[in-house]
Parts: sequence; C-alpha cells; structure tokens
Amino acid sequence: MTTPPLTPAGLRCGHQVNPLGIASDRARLSWVLEGAGTGRAQSAYQVLVTDEAGNMVWDSGRVESSCSADIAYGGVPLAGGGRYPWKVRVWDEAGSVSDWSELAWFEVELDRTSGWHASWIGPSRARESVTPPSGSGPVDPVARALTPAPYLRRAFAVDKPVASARLYVTALGLYEARLNGRRVGDGYLTPGWTDYTQRIAYQTYDVTGLLNQGDNVLGAIIADGWYAGFYGFDAKRAGAHYGPAPELLAQLLLVYAGGGREWIVTDEQWRSAVGAIRHADLLMGERHDLGLEPADWDGPGFDARDWRPVRVRDRDATPLVADPGPPVRVTEETTPRSIATDDHGRHIVDFGQNLTGWLRLRVDGPPGARIRIRHGEVLAADGGLYTDNLRTARATDEFTTSGGPEVLEPRFTLHGFRYAEITGYPGDIGQADITARVVHSDTPAAGAFGSSLAWLDRLFRCIDWGQRGNFISVPTDCPQRDERLGWLGDAQVFARTACYNRDVAAFFAKWLDDVADAQLPSGAFTDVAPVLNLRGAGAPAWGDAGVIVPWTVWKMYGDTALLGRHFGAMTRWMEFLERANPDYLRARELGNSYNDWLAPGDDDTPHELLATAYWAHDAALMAEIADATGRPAEAVGYRALWSKIRSAFTGAFVAADGQVASGTQTAYVLGLHMNLVPDDLRATTADRLVARIEAADWHLTTGFAGVGYLLPVLSSTGHTVAAYRLLEQDTVPSWRYMVHAGATTIWERWDGWTAERGFQSPWMNSFNHYSLGSVGEWLYRFLLGIDQEPGTAGFGQLLLRPHPAESLSWARGSYRSARGPVSTGWQRVGDRFTFRVELPPNVTASVRIPSGQAAEVRDAAGNPPASLASFPGAKDAQEAVFRVGSGVHEFSGPALTDSGYSR
Ligand code: BGC
Repeated sequence: MTTPPLTPAGLRCGHQVNPLGIASDRARLSWVLEGAGTGRAQSAYQVLVTDEAGNMVWDSGRVESSCSADIAYGGVPLAGGGRYPWKVRVWDEAGSVSDWSELAWFEVELDRTSGWHASWIGPSRARESVTPPSGSGPVDPVARALTPAPYLRRAFAVDKPVASARLYVTALGLYEARLNGRRVGDGYLTPGWTDYTQRIAYQTYDVTGLLNQGDNVLGAIIADGWYAGFYGFDAKRAGAHYGPAPELLAQLLLVYAGGGREWIVTDEQWRSAVGAIRHADLLMGERHDLGLEPADWDGPGFDARDWRPVRVRDRDATPLVADPGPPVRVTEETTPRSIATDDHGRHIVDFGQNLTGWLRLRVDGPPGARIRIRHGEVLAADGGLYTDNLRTARATDEFTTSGGPEVLEPRFTLHGFRYAEITGYPGDIGQADITARVVHSDTPAAGAFGSSLAWLDRLFRCIDWGQRGNFISVPTDCPQRDERLGWLGDAQVFARTACYNRDVAAFFAKWLDDVADAQLPSGAFTDVAPVLNLRGAGAPAWGDAGVIVPWTVWKMYGDTALLGRHFGAMTRWMEFLERANPDYLRARELGNSYNDWLAPGDDDTPHELLATAYWAHDAALMAEIADATGRPAEAVGYRALWSKIRSAFTGAFVAADGQVASGTQTAYVLGLHMNLVPDDLRATTADRLVARIEAADWHLTTGFAGVGYLLPVLSSTGHTVAAYRLLEQDTVPSWRYMVHAGATTIWERWDGWTAERGFQSPWMNSFNHYSLGSVGEWLYRFLLGIDQEPGTAGFGQLLLRPHPAESLSWARGSYRSARGPVSTGWQRVGDRFTFRVELPPNVTASVRIPSGQAAEVRDAAGNPPASLASFPGAKDAQEAVFRVGSGVHEFSGPALTDSGYSR
C-alpha cells in the first residue's frame, strides 16, 4: 500500500486568510500539511505567486526545507493595491510531490503616499450637542460631552459594468460604512485603536456585490470611540484624548469591466446630518431615538437637500496602514438563562456568563417607550446590579421606540457584563426578545482542555472567556470600568496562555506596533500601549513586555519577521536598562514600579530583586532572539550581559543556603524561573519555595509578576504535587476558590468577593481580568504536556511531557499549532498509566513519560523506550523517552505515584 502524498492546506499570508490589505514587507506565507500515516514530513516546497493578470511574479523553485511558516515573499516588488493569487506544493519524506494547493491570495496595502486621494471629512459643526430639556436641573458634564453620531453620505452614479470594487475606509473615531442601504463588512469598532498620532489603521472591503448599475449611495456613521470619547480613568481628561470630534476617510475604487477605474473619495461632495443615535460612547453607552432616524438615508432616492455640507481637512503625513490585526466581530450570541422581574417592572437578566458585548432587544409596542439597559458583572445583595466597580463608566444603553416591531441594538459601545437590568420595556418580555452579542477581536479558538475534575474544566473556560472579553483591538486589562487599557504587564504575563487558547498571531503583531509606537526616545517601553496620557514607562515586568511578548509570539508561531521588525526597539530598551544600571542591579529608572502587583498580603519582594530578575530574563530572551534572526555577535553579547546580571543577582539576593532575599514566593519563583540561582543550589532553593508555600498553608502569595511562573517552576523542579496542591486549594487566595464562588471569568483579585467581607474595594475590583489566568500555560505545557523542545520555536520540534498527579485520573486536550493540531491525553487506571498523542505531519516529538519503572513503559507495538532519562528534581522517578513523528501513538506502563515527586 503506498502512502498518498501530503496535502498543503490552510494557506495564510501575514497570519491571515486571504487578507485584503497587507503591507508588502509582511507578506509572509504559511500553510499546514494534511496526510494520514506516521512520520510524515515535508522535505521541500515550491511557491508560485502571480499577479491578477496571471503573470508570474515569484516562483520560489524547489526549496529543500521542512519550513511551512514565515516564508518571505521573494519575487518582484509588489504593487500597492495589487491582488496576488498564490499556491504551494510540497514534497514529502519519500520525495513524492503533492498536488498544487487550492489557490489563496492576498492584496497589498495602498501605497502610503501615492495611494490615497481622499480627505478627512466631518460635520461642519464639529459637535452637535443635545440641549438638555429645560428644568432638568444642573447640566451633567458627561451628558454635555455626549453628542449625536454624525451621518455622512454621498450619491454617485455607475454607468458601466463594474468588474470589481474595493472600499478603503477608516475614521478618527469609529465608523460603520454603508453602501446602498447595506452595512459594509461584519467588523465592529473599526478601525480599532492605535495611537492615531502615530499610525491609523484602515480596512479594505470587497464591495463589488453591493453596487448598483445607476444610482448608488456611499455612507457612514461615525462615533467618538477611542479617539474622541471617554476612555481610561483620568477624570480631568476623560474624553477627547486624541481630538475633539470624529472624522471619516474613505475611498471607493471602481474597476470597470471594459477597462478604466474611478475613485469616489471623501471630499466636499459629501453631506452630513444626524439621526437616531443621540450619543455613542465606549464607556458611557449609547442612546437612540428611533423616531429621529431618516428612513433609507443610505440608499438612492433619499432626498438629502437639507443635509449640510461637510468640513474637509487635508491628510497629513500620519501613515495609513492596512489593519494587520483581526477584526472585532460578533462571535457568538447567547440568550438569557433567567429573567427576574420585580414589582416595578424592572427585569434583571442573567446570561450565566460574564462576557463583553451588548444586548439586542426585540420590541413591538407604541412609539415613545423609553427602554433603558444597564450592565453589571455581578449582583448586589438586594438582587439588583452591582455597578460600583464600574467607577465612572455608565455602561447604559437607552432607546426611545418609534412604534411597531423594532430591533434595538447599540453599535459603537462595549460593556463587560453577565447581568443586565432592563427598564421601560413595553409589555411582557421573554427570553426570545433578548440576545447578548459577544464581541471581541476575532481570534479563532486554538486550545481545548478536559479532565476528570469538573471545576478545573470550568477554570479553563474562565481563562478563555477572560481572554475573549479583553482582546479588543488591543489586550486590555478589563472590559467594564473606566479603564480598559493595554497594560503591558498584564499582556506579558498572559501572552503564552493567550497563544495556546486562541490564534493571536495577527492580534499581537498589531499590538506590538502599538508598543513600538509608544516607546519613549530614551528606549523605555511604556506602562500601557497605545499610550493614553502617558502613565509612565520603564516599570519592571511592564516595560519588559516589549521583549517578552515578541519572544512569545515567535516561540509559538515561529514568526522571525516579527522579531526582525522589533529588534531595534528591543535593543533600545536593553540599552536604556544598562545605561541606568551600570552595576547590573536594576535599581534605577523603575518608573511606576508596580512590583508584584496585587500580591495577596505578601508584597515584600524587593523592587530591585524583581526588576533585576526580569532584566536577566530579557537578556536571555534577547540572546535567543538574536540567534533566531541571524545576529550571532549580538547573541554573544546578550549571553555575556545575562552572566553579569546573574552574578549581580546572586551576589545581592541569593544566600549560600539557597535562600532568596525577602523569602517571598515570588522572589523564589523569579530566581528559579530566570535561572539566577547557582546550579548547585537550585534543588535547595526549590525546597525552600515549597516550604514557604506550606507555611502559607498551601496557599500562593504571588501577584501578577510571579503568578504565571509559579506552577511551571514547581513542576520543572520536581514539585508537581505541590503545584497540584495549589491548584486544588479552595480557600482564598486560589483559583478554585474563584470558580467555587461562581466566577465565569478570571477576577482581578483573589478576594474580589468573599462571604466574610463581601466585595473588595470598588475602586479596583474587576471580575474580568486575565492576569491570574496565566495558569493556563501550565495546564497546556505541563499538565497536558504539550510543549516544545527548549530553544526551538514554531511547534516543529515538540516535547510531549505530561505531569500527572493522583488528584486527576485523566486529562486530555489539544492545541492547533502553526504546524497543525497537536493532541494529548492521559489516563491512570489503577497503577497503569497510558498516554496517547496525535500529531500533524511535519513535526518530530520526544515523548517523555514519567514512571516509577520507566523501563517497563511500552508503545502500542510493544517497543521499549528509546532511552531513559531522569525526571527533573523528582526523587525516584525516571522518564521513558520515545521519539515519534506524525500520526497517532499510544504508550502505557506503570504509573508514577505522587511519592515519586519530591513532595
Ligand atoms: C490595571 C492593571 C494594571 C495595573 C498597573 C490597574 O489599574 O487594571 O491590570 O496592570 O493597574 O498597576
């Protein structure tokens, strides 16, 4: 029986499927391979790229390589706005060639200078304020700042058949584009958040199918968004961060079937008015008066004579870039789990899940009904919404009906909620009238997890929902209160978990541009990106994200191009640290030094210790980054820097008996994780960490900066049983406590709510923060054993090394890697342990199975291990090592008992 050839599939460019806009230097190609059998691998590939007319622009020729990701386009220069179909074929391990893949394509972004013909437009009166009803008391400053969303339109005629049409569009603020009465695209909160003074992202849509022969209307509604609306928590400058009012920039390209092209652009030919949307703000919510909607304003035939001329402003030099990130979309809809109605007709709706998005209501009643929707993550003791933790965010949507059947839904706001309070709804409300729409950057799920512990599966879901609720154009800290910033510390702590949960390659690539845009001339990375009223820079564990996150993205996706792009910025950061700290202890330029943020009752980790540990970590990662990008001299330099920092750290903070200064769990964890403890003391130091945990009655005391490394450090020093004890702890502070207290997303604080003390301080008590969910990484890498060989990236060389313990009888899960899906599953029955793995083509893996009698472990064909190795730190245990390639493999042997681990 001959093995069929491999099939290349899942073609992507710049981590996106058939992108309509990609910068030419980001046109990196990738595919995955499908094919049955074991040990399947790519030995060579050939890529062909043509232009739209079918002329060859790049034939890679046959390239001997197993690489199937991050392949740089190597042909003639790509033209701005050009469309390029491409395909690939591969040779397998036996030299058989595949068929050509299905055709994929990419379109290159418009030339940043010559490609744009449009001007910015906005209403002639910058802000149309709503006059408050007389006698309504003192004017509320928030209400005064909230103004109607401008509607913009332009009519045009098409008198020849159109072969294709593209709409390139962006806004300072947010836009919803309309063409002939239809919404363009399925993205929300477009164009997303960047520092609009540094770069402005735009979207490209194929609108060929929306055009009419004859009369057409291109329109848009624009809103304040991040640009001009309320955002962040600085009360003095809570709105208008980048500018006073939103503006639109759009150009529609018509390519005629008979030849010739035409641009319809934003210019003085547009007209503006206002409609139903009386205000729209990310934090405050939206108010619609449906009776004020000009019917069919965005279609031909509408009489726009009383619409006003627009204000036109020339473009400046700020680069317009094709959005490199995934769009924000509605990814799921959910209906209420319950509706409770009180005597005043107030409905409290429970969706059973804390999520980010908004409500869609169906209503059929008289005109003039005023329906109000408030949002909250939890309920107060009286059964009403608890909203104190939203701070100044009003998170309220209001609708005045125009009568008859209507659908009520906001479009330029976002709320973090599990519960909603609905008042003013005319008539009876039923579950079918209410939908929660789940909204976030559309990052497809990549990870799955299941185990014999139901609560652990719930924890896994909390972690993923926390990610969904906070990955909104940038990785934010929380989705509900007046903050929602791209904190670098939170992002780096969670980055690896995020990559396992979902495909975030394009998402992080976009955000890392924001991080680079925000970097100060000194080289300091900022606390948040995009910068919003510069909060600070250089903070340990926050600024270090500028190195850790690119390294993580490379590690997970093999994206060396990203490393190359950011190498300069990372180097400036490293120079900034070294300039300030010539003695290799990082004690100066610590900025806001948040230290081990929110460590429960144990924030005594010295700031310089934490800072120096993170600096050493940066140096080690920089050495790997330099190697990966072909910079051997820099790699040597960073290894030398790492040694100097390590000596300084050891001298200052590590005692001869293995104690790490201050003795906090985080101090031990960082010393061990960053490899700053002399090798001969590692085991002793790890024992001391476990002793500290035991002294805290098997509770953790780590904050944001330490928590993500805690369980990985325990497992890699042979203390997996201690890791499980922390995981299974069910009193505060612990993950399991949160789950038992009803969390459906990870909380900001371990004690966000306790039976004894109720809610934590309303000033900082989000129920949807992902940082403490960084334990997800351990679930994948250690518990399931889905990891990579040290020093490798992109999931080509796997290390499949499960870490079982007696508290679990089975676990299984998967990760859709850059090379395809990797699944593992293990089970313990009596004293037997089985481990099953399923691997895609084009990977090699070492499977390492811990066992009390490793020599007895066998694969399905009865073969003994290829070799035995000692299981790190564990007392008596050894590992059975097998080497495998693609396919399904199963192993079994005598189980490791908990006593096999050091503790
Ligand atoms: C945010 C954090 C952030 C921190 C900085 C908080 O307000 O919610 O998650 O990292 O500030 O200390």
